[in-house]
Amino acid sequence: MLTTDDLQVFTDHVRRTMFECAVTLDRPQAAEFWPLSTPEYRFQHTLHVRRFVERLQAEEGGDLELLQTSAIFHDISHFSTTYDQHGRVSAEMARDYLTSHRSSTGEPFPADFIDRVFLTIDDHASDKPSSYYLDEVPLESMLLIEADLLDKLGPNGAFAHLLLSGANHRLWQAALATIERDVIGRGERALGNDGKRFHLTPVARRMIEERLAWTKHFLAEVREDVACLF
Ligand SMILES: [Fe+2]
Ligand SMILES: [Fe+2]
Repeated sequence: MLTTDDLQVFTDHVRRTMFECAVTLDRPQAAEFWPLSTPEYRFQHTLHVRRFVERLQAEEGGDLELLQTSAIFHDISHFSTTYDQHGRVSAEMARDYLTSHRSSTGEPFPADFIDRVFLTIDDHASDKPSSYYLDEVPLESMLLIEADLLDKLGPNGAFAHLLLSGANHRLWQAALATIERDVIGRGERALGNDGKRFHLTPVARRMIEERLAWTKHFLAEVREDVACLF
């Protein structure tokens, strides 16, 4: 149903929306979270999440076009609303876009496809009870959540937290502690919650473990190379 042109048009729309909304957004704490608070970071993250859903889908199955579309739109509202609301608002913005545009072949997007995109995006940041995520969540919702997490781990997660640490004038020890807590800790919490709050797919579990192993190795190498930690 979708062509590569459609996916590129979605991507261009999301990029434009993020950058335009970020200009008018007045968020006093943004400087404290630089570069994580920038549209540059958020758009890169969007591209990474699309790449991860494609890798997960190749092994786990699921509807590839639904996953690609949901990944591209999943954080579109990041500069338009609060963090707590961004799952629902991104879902609404995706639905509005898809109902008011046609595909590159001139066809409207099917209503059931739009409904499933809405649900998948809403599920990635909602307050549904954990019983939903344990028993009823569709595979595509799960894969989007996993892809969203995977980008926060590994090389990109470590590098982003080094930039964040530098912006906040943290030196070596504090920067390493940030990576330990916010990158490695985040991945380990997800592995520890497997089966309690949701069931990770086997491929996501393996990729989380691989990315955590890389980050732990990186941290160990830096610690050994830095003679004096302040
Ligand atoms: Fe999100
Ligand atoms: Fe995200």
